[in-house]
This record gives sequence, C-alpha cells and structure tokens, in this order.
Amino acid sequence: MSASRTIVAGVGSYLPARIVTNADMAKIVDTSDDWIVERTGIRQRHIAAEGECTSDLAIAAGERALANAGMAADDIDMVIVATATPDETFPATAVTVQSRLGITHGGAFDLQAVCSGFVYGFGVADNLIRGGLARNILLIGAETFSRILDWEDRTTCVLFGDGAGAVVLKGEDGKAAEQRGIIGTRLRSDGSKHDLLYVDGGPSKTQTVGKLRMQGKEVFRYAVTNLSEIVKEVLEENGLESSDVDWIVPHQANRRILDATARKLAIDPDKVVVTVQDHGNTSAASVPLALDQAVSDGRIKPGDLVLLEAMGGGFTWGASLVRW
Ligand code: ACO
Repeated sequence: MSASRTIVAGVGSYLPARIVTNADMAKIVDTSDDWIVERTGIRQRHIAAEGECTSDLAIAAGERALANAGMAADDIDMVIVATATPDETFPATAVTVQSRLGITHGGAFDLQAVCSGFVYGFGVADNLIRGGLARNILLIGAETFSRILDWEDRTTCVLFGDGAGAVVLKGEDGKAAEQRGIIGTRLRSDGSKHDLLYVDGGPSKTQTVGKLRMQGKEVFRYAVTNLSEIVKEVLEENGLESSDVDWIVPHQANRRILDATARKLAIDPDKVVVTVQDHGNTSAASVPLALDQAVSDGRIKPGDLVLLEAMGGGFTWGASLVRW
C-alpha cells in the first residue's frame, strides 16, 4: 500500500572508538594540526578497529535509529546501505545488515553514490515508500574509508574518517502527512569528472580494491558551484526560498566548502550544522551523522524546514528538503 508522505521517524549514528587526532596524523605524514585545521576545519577522525567492518558500523547506527523511532527491526521491510566501502564486492552490505538485525522479510540493497549516497538514498527511499514498494525503510550511510586511503599521501589521508549514520523512513497518511515529511529531492551526476576524485582499483578493472585519488582544488571549486546550484533548484521547485530554511545539514567534507556554499546561498552560517571537526569526511555517513547530532542536541525541532545536501565522487550531487 502506498503512502502519501515519507517522514523521518528516527535517527541514529555510530563512530568507531579509536580517535586519531591531527597530532597523530603528523606522526604518519608530513603535516600539522595548524595546516589541517586552517584548510579543512578537521581536528580528529575515528578509525575502525581491525576486523571492524562497514556492516558493524551500519548495524550500530541502525539499531540506534530504530530505538529513536520506537520501532523493532521486524517493522522494517527494506534496508538500504549507502556505501562506497562495502564489506565485500558482493553480497551487498545491506543484506548482511538485514540478516544480522534478524529481519527475514522484505528486501535490502546497497546504493553507490559515494559522498552523496545518503542524499541519493533519501530520494530513492521516499519514492519506494510513496510508490508502495516499502512502508518502513532503514536507510544507513556507512563507510570505512580508512581502508581505501593511501596513508602515505598527505593530500588525502588527513581528510577522511570512518563512521555510520541512519534514519528510519516511514510512510504516513492523513493529517500527520500534511504537516511533516520529505518535500522533494533533486539528484545529479557528471561522469566526465571521474579523474578528479576516484579509487584506482575495482574488481573488473584491476581485481584490486585500490586507493582514493583526488585533485583537491578542482573538487573544491565544483563542490561549491554544484551544491549551491542544486540547493537553489530544489528550493525553487518547491516554492521555497533560502530564508525559509531553518537548518542546512551538508555533507561534512571540509569547513571551507560548507562556509563558501552557505555564503553563495546567502544562508546564515549559524543555520549550518557543522560536525566535520569531530570526524572528518565520512562520505555517505556524514549527512546522517550531522543530522543525528543536531536532532539529539535539540537544534532541529518538529516543524523545522531542514535541507540536506551532498556532493561526491563521480561527480554525484543532490539536495533534499524535509519538514521535520
Ligand atoms: N599537510 C601539509 N601540507 C599539505 C597537506 C597536508 N596534509 N596536503 C597538501 N599540502 C601542501 C601541498 O603539497 C601544497 O604544497 P606546495 O605549495 O609546496 O606545493 C600546499 O599544501 C597547498 O596545497 P593545495 O592542494 O593547493 O591546498 P588547498 O588549499 O587546495 O587545500 C584541500 C587542499 C584541503 C584538499 C582543498 O583543496 C580541499 O578541501 N578540496 C576539497 C576536497 C574535498 O573535500 N574532497 C572530499 C571529497 S569530495 C566532497 O566530499 C565534496
């Protein structure tokens, strides 16, 4: 049965126990706390323990989101894991998560849009629910980017970390559906920018996992332009203006990208949720990690207009509007 609206029923997140500070990074590569903080805003990142996989992080975040929603794992009829660092080439990490949560009905699949994976998942899950293919979806962004970093390349390894964030999305009808829920999503991609941000391995091309490669300056430039454009588009499409937004929850890549994008959109910097200092760029996990923090500390309240946005490898990028 289809629902008229998709609402966010619960949020949760998880960061691995091990913290690696900028001072720790300076022992691994030629860098400094000053350089990293000034260029990125990052102060520390969490790194998964040996043997701790993306599915472990995803399950921990998913369980917290279910508890926050007051729902049991059995209520979920679709699990989506947005990740670029799956446990294995196949089966999908989402299937492992589904099984280990004890869910024996419905479906599960991974979604690969790198750092935009969670926002892509938001749009896909909303349409699955309103189209009647699922009623309650556990959408998780989970990554172990530490496994695909070149730990000798100071231009990339200082930027990323591991983590997971999750939401429970639920079909709603009637009055509740009029007052809250996902308003709209826009998704974009441009494969011609492959060489600016990619992993130089893969089962078909090299039969290896590969390492992340990036041309940081170029990525920065495109991120600010693409993100501000897509935010304008999703607002316009839904008859809203940037001044209507109560909270912007961006992909936590780099403090300077967040500031520059907010400036371009004329959004008050105080309305931007920033958590990048605590965990670095966690790719698909970063939007739900930031979302969880802003909901838990009471900043995001019922009735608020929340804007999610992200850009990542591909390039892929997207933005979504939700009435909390
Ligand atoms: N520590 C110290 N010095 C460094 C480090 C480091 N970790 N990394 C690079 N440098 C040096 C460079 O070697 C260079 O030295 P040189 O002038 O002697 O050649 C100098 O610092 C400046 O390097 P730039 O690359 O020009 O530095 P820039 O100001 O562009 O900052 C950064 C680099 C932080 C990567 C920036 O380009 C950026 O944030 N880009 C966006 C990348 C990003 O966020 N990607 C995430 C994935 S995509 C997404 O999520 C949107």
